[in-house]
Amino acid sequence: MKKIGILVGSRHQESINRKIAQSFVQIGHPDLSFSFIDISALPLFSEDLEQNLPQSVTEFCESIRANDLILIMTPEYNRAIPGVLKNALDWASRPYGKGALSGKEAAIAGVSLGGAGTAAAQVQLRALLPSLGMVQVRHPEMCLVWKPTLLNENRLPTDENTTLFFKKFLDALAK
Ligand SMILES: Cc1cc2nc3c(=O)[nH]c(=O)nc-3n(C[C@H](O)[C@H](O)[C@H](O)COP(=O)(O)O)c2cc1C
Repeated sequence: MKKIGILVGSRHQESINRKIAQSFVQIGHPDLSFSFIDISALPLFSEDLEQNLPQSVTEFCESIRANDLILIMTPEYNRAIPGVLKNALDWASRPYGKGALSGKEAAIAGVSLGGAGTAAAQVQLRALLPSLGMVQVRHPEMCLVWKPTLLNENRLPTDENTTLFFKKFLDALAK
């Protein structure tokens, strides 16, 4: 069983990226197990805090290390990844070359209100992965445009094409 840690780059209570991730979990896959990695308690990164790491940072890094693949769900803020996501990645990149993300597989997906469905944020995020020491799953790309009707009350897609697309994405994580 491959362990997938889902890191949602949002502190939004009603995060649409979290909802899509919950849909992946609802659909499920026989070879994958899922857990969510919480970023909400992380302080803003400072090298000064590294002398005595806050417990929230230690727990965050442990929850990354417990997984085989980290699925990063990125919102898009002003054509870039949100600061809270960059902050989380900076914490997990330390110490340089030996951070929790180093050597982990990374997959990226995102959903936004804009028509490009986080494509700009994802390009930026993919460019960061080599410096984090992450190996990326490249296909299929998952850039989604949010509509309230995309998922039903059980977080399952309301149309067959979206279901098939989500399953194809999960198959790629399992490889
Ligand atoms: C500061 C800010 C900037 C945003 N910039 C973009 C953007 O560049 N492209 C886009 O598609 N949506 C943009 N949005 C809308 C987001 O897609 C929307 O807020 C979405 O719900 C964020 O994802 P989340 O709910 O998972 O946090 C922006 C929203 C905020 C608050």
